[in-house]
Amino acid sequence: MSDPTPDGLQAALREIKDPASGRDIVAAGLVEGLQVRGGLVHVSLLTDRAHADAMEPVRAEVERRLAREPGVKNVAAVLTAHRPGPTRQQQLPPPAHEHGHAHAPRPALLPEVRAVIAVASGKGGVGKSTVAVNLAVALAQQGRRVGLLDADIYGPSLPRLLGLSRQPQVRNERMLPLPAWGLQAMSIGFLVEDETPMIWRGPMVMSALEQMMGQVEWGPLDIMVVDMPPGTGDAQLTMAQRVSLAGAVIVSTPQDIALADARRGVRMFERTRVPVLGLVENMSYFCCPNCGHRAEIFGHGGAKQEASRLGVDFLGEVPLLLDIRTASDAGTPIVAAAPQSPAAQAFGAIAARVRDRLEAGASANAAAFPKIVVS
Ligand SMILES: Nc1ncnc2c1ncn2[C@@H]1O[C@H](COP(=O)(O)OP(=O)(O)OP(=O)(O)O)[C@@H](O)[C@H]1O
Ligand SMILES: [Mg+2]
Repeated sequence: MSDPTPDGLQAALREIKDPASGRDIVAAGLVEGLQVRGGLVHVSLLTDRAHADAMEPVRAEVERRLAREPGVKNVAAVLTAHRPGPTRQQQLPPPAHEHGHAHAPRPALLPEVRAVIAVASGKGGVGKSTVAVNLAVALAQQGRRVGLLDADIYGPSLPRLLGLSRQPQVRNERMLPLPAWGLQAMSIGFLVEDETPMIWRGPMVMSALEQMMGQVEWGPLDIMVVDMPPGTGDAQLTMAQRVSLAGAVIVSTPQDIALADARRGVRMFERTRVPVLGLVENMSYFCCPNCGHRAEIFGHGGAKQEASRLGVDFLGEVPLLLDIRTASDAGTPIVAAAPQSPAAQAFGAIAARVRDRLEAGASANAAAFPKIVVS
């Protein structure tokens, strides 16, 4: 069945009243965004924190009303507010009894996840996805309940890196994440054909990302690792605004140019008040598979120096290894495929440090910001 038209959906929305003004919600200007794709409808309703409680029944009504329209498979209506992103105080979700109180700032999405961490970089191709996957698998091996979300809508990596090509199942209109290597994963790549060109506009990126958080049955998780796309675009904005991020892991190669980009990544998170958990130096040095000789192709130790200059922690270094690449291409993350290998040990140590930082952050006084010094 073809997609319902935005006009038809708008007409349905006009039947719903804004309790504050008495006008219909379209006329009252509350419908900020409406997107339709493959029968999935996403609506953003403008509100502010003070009125969020009053708007909740309207939001629910929007979902019920649009679900009745022909061609609509699923509806997600979200309340959006134009205000600064979440603060560090929201790092852990409030206890269950606080949910539903508009005055208690709370993460709008992923309420059952104790800590959401973004794996990011200022530039592409430095190994974010490789680090995100192996970090997530290592955290799962260390006994944590882990989710892995591919926030790269244009170029999703998880299907290849995890060796997954099947479609997620749907239960009660929510998608079930795919289990792999001890964790739960979701990627837009599980939902669309491999070679489909994806031309996404900004709002579509937000909508797709929000659906992968809000309409997926993640269940309670200790840690959600988010593999971020390169750069500082819509996905970064969505994550900063819609999720309470516990921290960011910045990946860099040792080259100066990549480090300049890492600095940009650090600043971006600092601006959105997300604590930087630390820097990982990837492709840190090359180990010759034949003779074991260690060659520092891109220089070495740059990220460590840069971390101390920026006042953020250094989380560890990962060697440039053929095995890491071949394991990734085979869909078997090296941490799972060869847990005793030096590469797996390196990821394991990084995972342990990330855990320590998160646990220290969670128990620290919420007022105590981590020291981030950006020159
Ligand atoms: N430590 C490593 N040793 C060997 N190969 C690596 C290592 N890290 C990453 N690679 C390889 O480098 C390529 C790029 O890595 P990856 O896809 O993880 O980068 P990315 O930063 O996520 O890229 P993008 O910005 O496109 O999302 C991949 O082929 C990957 O297998
Ligand atoms: Mg990537």
